[in-house]
Amino acid sequence: MAIQDKVVIITGASSGIGEVTAKLLASKGAKVVLGARREENLKTLAESISQEGGKAVYQVMDVTDAEDNKKIVELAKNEFGKVDVIFLNAGLMPNSPLSELKSDEWDRMVDVNLKGVLNGLEAILPEFKAQKSGHVVTTSSVAGLKAYPGGGVYGATKWAVRDLMEVLRIESAQEGTNIRTATIYPAAIKTELLETITDEQTSEGAQQMYDQYQIGPDRVANVVAFAIDQPEDTNVTEFTIGPTTQPW
Ligand SMILES: NC(=O)c1ccc[n+]([C@@H]2O[C@H](COP(=O)([O-])OP(=O)(O)OC[C@H]3O[C@@H](n4cnc5c(N)ncnc54)[C@H](OP(=O)(O)O)[C@@H]3O)[C@@H](O)[C@H]2O)c1
Repeated sequence: MAIQDKVVIITGASSGIGEVTAKLLASKGAKVVLGARREENLKTLAESISQEGGKAVYQVMDVTDAEDNKKIVELAKNEFGKVDVIFLNAGLMPNSPLSELKSDEWDRMVDVNLKGVLNGLEAILPEFKAQKSGHVVTTSSVAGLKAYPGGGVYGATKWAVRDLMEVLRIESAQEGTNIRTATIYPAAIKTELLETITDEQTSEGAQQMYDQYQIGPDRVANVVAFAIDQPEDTNVTEFTIGPTTQPW
């Protein structure tokens, strides 16, 4: 089954990569289930998808809350009868030098970027195991592939997601559950992500770099759609995607 009629849960759907991916998948016939904290954004997005003839529902959720993750899976099942894909995409990037000791931000990144993905897996794996099919897509980052100053904790969460996803792929193959995985590693993509940086110097540096290189989130959405569109017996595991001109 290609994208048409697939039920796709998307976390972090209220802006950026998640929002644009929801629009694209809905335009290709997917039934999308949108999750994030900002209700107004989710409502507007769901309405605009419906106006275009697509199918979308939403739930206000915080990915750090395990129950919220279970509730969005329930919502998808109640509205559309099943879940085919979960795109665990919510994240934040308050980068800073480790020596600044912004430990509250470290905790937040671990809670959202890593524990948020684990909460999503806890909610969805029983469904995917039972139906013996399913697709887990996550947004890691090029920061999950290589180290850079200021990105110590952000990168650590994204490296962790990379490892988790590879283990999930191997275990799913061994267990015969047919669960597919795709991990996306974006470079500089124009979204609201930089707004989470509180360290002034890091913020200025990141903004300059993004102003020079950034490309739109639709480019990432295309890659997510490609992964989902593959035949069920085919797993495209990893994609790095970024501006041609950026030497990431
Ligand atoms: N933009 C880039 O250059 C880039 C590069 C590599 C990787 N990424 C990754 O791409 C993913 C999407 O980010 P983006 O670039 O599209 O930035 P964005 O526009 O800031 O989107 C982040 C999304 O995550 C959601 N979110 C944050 N905390 C949440 C929480 N506790 N519970 C539920 N949702 C939460 C936000 O929604 P609410 O605030 O409404 O909750 C928002 O929808 C992130 O994982 C990010 O690390 C981005």
